[in-house]
Amino acid sequence: MTTTVASPMYAGHFAGRSAVITGAGRGIGLAVGRAFAESGASVLLVDRDAVVEDAAEQLRADGLDAHGIRADVTDEAAMRGVFAEADERWSSLDVLVNNAGIITISDLDDLSLDDFQRVLAVNTTAMFLGCREAAPLLRRSRSGVILNAASGQARQGFIFTPHYAASKFGVIGLTQSLAKELAKDGIRVNAYCPGIVQTDMWDYNDREWGRRLGHYAPGELIREWIDAIPLKRPAEAKDIANLLLFLASDAAEYITGQAVNIDGGMFMN
Ligand code: NAI
Repeated sequence: MTTTVASPMYAGHFAGRSAVITGAGRGIGLAVGRAFAESGASVLLVDRDAVVEDAAEQLRADGLDAHGIRADVTDEAAMRGVFAEADERWSSLDVLVNNAGIITISDLDDLSLDDFQRVLAVNTTAMFLGCREAAPLLRRSRSGVILNAASGQARQGFIFTPHYAASKFGVIGLTQSLAKELAKDGIRVNAYCPGIVQTDMWDYNDREWGRRLGHYAPGELIREWIDAIPLKRPAEAKDIANLLLFLASDAAEYITGQAVNIDGGMFMN
């Protein structure tokens, strides 16, 4: 049995509800999937990587209601397949978490158009696709919710990641616009902005940013950044998962069109 992720305050809250989470084979997405399942939801974990099947298997071994599906979020046909599967299982959908995201780190002269477009495609364009394909199912829910992965880089661009920052600023615009359009259908749309979260993505950031900024020892850059965080620690994936449980819960029924920082105080705008 893996350590519990969800706060006990959500025990049973999502019983009878369904959730689709993308980028859920590892990291934040997997913690979010586990948290919703632990709180009673039936979850569909989506990832382009085969690791998602093992992840779902592990949740089932822990007595949770989870299924894994391999799909690339940028692939329109594959995403139609994901929501066709959700329709078949539940005939409606309560929660969509558009969590899949990628980053690359490069100075301007080396940043290829392909890299720029790929980061935008996964982090922003695919989010539109997920929302559009899920909307008919979310409209059939009593309380449809969409949660979109933004970042501290949706507040302030960091050096060497203009494409990532552009993609995450875009997430907030998309979130606000859809919150206005989908409110009439009872669907709330919010974004979440993590600062530094201990996942594979952070290991990559520490290595690549560290190299470019002249911090060669592993962990050196992360220590410097953590020192600048008022709460003096990086987030764990479960911190993000518990924010998303709140935002999807009935207690958050008056919250829509927001981008919520979860970063130990790193950004206060
Ligand atoms: P991660 O790299 O640990 O996991 C991301 C997952 O998404 C992987 O399993 C990967 O296979 C999957 N994925 C990537 N591209 C995909 C695609 N095209 N189709 C389907 N699945 C795909 O990343 P992490 O840290 O869990 O990040 C999750 C989200 O949170 C991302 O949107 C990221 O930008 C955001 N975020 C992460 C932060 C961090 O410090 N780790 C900070 C701020 C935001």
